[in-house]
Amino acid sequence: MLHSDQTNADSLLLLVAGAKGAVASTLAVALAAMRRDPASVLPSLTTGHMFADSGLLQVTWLAGWDTSAERYTAAIKRHGVLPDAIWQPHAEELDQTPVINAPDSATDFKEQVDQLSRDINEFKSRHQGARAVFIDLLPAASHQDLNACQDLSQLFAEADVSNLPDLAYTLAAIKSGVPVVNFTPNPVEIPAVLDEAVKIGLPIVGRDGKTGQTYLKVVLASALKARNLLVDGWYSLNILGNADGANLMDPDRAAEKLRNKTSLLDDILEYEVGRQYGAPTHKVHIDYYPPRGDAKEAWDAIDFTGLFGLPMSIRLNLLGRDSILAAPLVLDLARWAVALQMAGRSGPIPELSFYFKKPVGDSPPLTFQDQVTSLAKLERECQELIKLNFSKLNL
Ligand SMILES: NC(=O)c1ccc[n+]([C@@H]2O[C@H](COP(=O)([O-])OP(=O)(O)OC[C@H]3O[C@@H](n4cnc5c(N)ncnc54)[C@H](O)[C@@H]3O)[C@@H](O)[C@H]2O)c1
Repeated sequence: MLHSDQTNADSLLLLVAGAKGAVASTLAVALAAMRRDPASVLPSLTTGHMFADSGLLQVTWLAGWDTSAERYTAAIKRHGVLPDAIWQPHAEELDQTPVINAPDSATDFKEQVDQLSRDINEFKSRHQGARAVFIDLLPAASHQDLNACQDLSQLFAEADVSNLPDLAYTLAAIKSGVPVVNFTPNPVEIPAVLDEAVKIGLPIVGRDGKTGQTYLKVVLASALKARNLLVDGWYSLNILGNADGANLMDPDRAAEKLRNKTSLLDDILEYEVGRQYGAPTHKVHIDYYPPRGDAKEAWDAIDFTGLFGLPMSIRLNLLGRDSILAAPLVLDLARWAVALQMAGRSGPIPELSFYFKKPVGDSPPLTFQDQVTSLAKLERECQELIKLNFSKLNL
C-alpha cells in the first residue's frame, strides 16, 4: 500500500477547495478504493481507457481545504452518500486525508492568494513528483460581474472574495503552476484570470459540471433536433436534500446555476423555445427537499410538435444520486487537465463541453454528437502532442 508522503512520479494529486463536501468526500472514497483496486473505479470513468501511453494515472491522492474541522469520516457519514460498507474498509486512510483550514474570509484577497500558494507548495512537497490539479468544489456563490477588470491589480481592488473565495484559490493555483478544474457554477474564468493562465501555460477547464438532468437534456434536445421535431416547451424540476440543494434556495446563489441550466437548450436547438408565446417556455426549478438527501430526483415534461404541427410529449423521471454522478466526472476532468497541460494547451478548453453546463471558451460544441466527437478528437490531439513534447525532451 502506498502512503501519501511517498514519492511517486506518475501519481496525480487533487488539491480540492471544499474537500469535505459531498462530492469531494465521495471522490476521496473512490480514490482510496482505486488505489487498492483500480478495476473498482476505472470502468465508471469516461477516461478509464484514455491516456494509457502517457502514464496517466491510477494512483491519485486528494488533499485540500475546508471550513469544517470535523474528522474526514464524520463528513462522509454526515453526507450519507455512501453505505458504510463501501467507505469503512478505507476509514483509517480517509481520516489521514490532509485537509487544512480555509483562509479566514475577512483576510485581504492578495494575502489569501499568498497563503494558499504556500499551502499548495507544502502539499506538493509532500507528494514529490506527483502532478497536481486544483479542483474547485466550493458552494455556489452569489454573482459578481468582474469581466471588466483589465488586470490582476484591478481584480484585487474590486473583487469581494468573502463572497467568491473561488477566485483566491484559482489565482493561487495558477501562480503555483497548477491547472484548474472549475466544477462549480461560480464564474471565475474572467479575462484577467484567463490571461494569467495563458501567460503561465495552464489549462483552466469549466464551468459547472453537467451530471444528471442537464446531461440528459443535451442528449434529448440533440435527438429532437436531428429529427426536426420542434420543441414547444420544456419544464424541468429538481428536488434534492443535500447541502448544495439547501444553498441553492438562496436566489442569489442559485441564479448562475439556473442560467447555466436554461441557456443551453436554445443554443443546441438554434431557436428560442417559446418564441410563439412571446416568452420562454423552457423553465427550470430547483427545490430543496430534505428527505431525499443526495438522492436527487428530476422530472422533465417536454412538449414538441411533428408533421402538420401535431403535438406530442415526453416525460422523463431521473432518480439520480448527485455525488455518485459527479465524483467520477471530477476525476475525469483532473485527468484531462493534466493531459492537456502535458500537451501544452493553455487557457479555456471549449472542446470539453461534454462535461459542463456552461463551457468556457470560443465556440464550444453544443449538440451531444458534436461533444462526443470533439472529445475523441481532443484525446487524439493530446496523445500526439504529449508524444511529440516527450520526444523533444529526450532529444
Ligand atoms: N453534485 C453535482 O452533481 C454537481 C453538479 C454540478 C456542480 N456541482 C457543484 O459542485 C460544488 C460542490 O458540491 P457539493 O455537493 O460537494 O457541495 P457541498 O456543500 O457538500 O460542499 C462544499 C464544501 O465546501 C466547504 N467550504 C465552504 N466554504 C469554503 C471555503 N471558503 N474554503 C474551503 N471550503 C469551503 C464546505 O464546508 C463544504 O464541505 C457546488 O458548487 C455544486 O453546485 C455539483
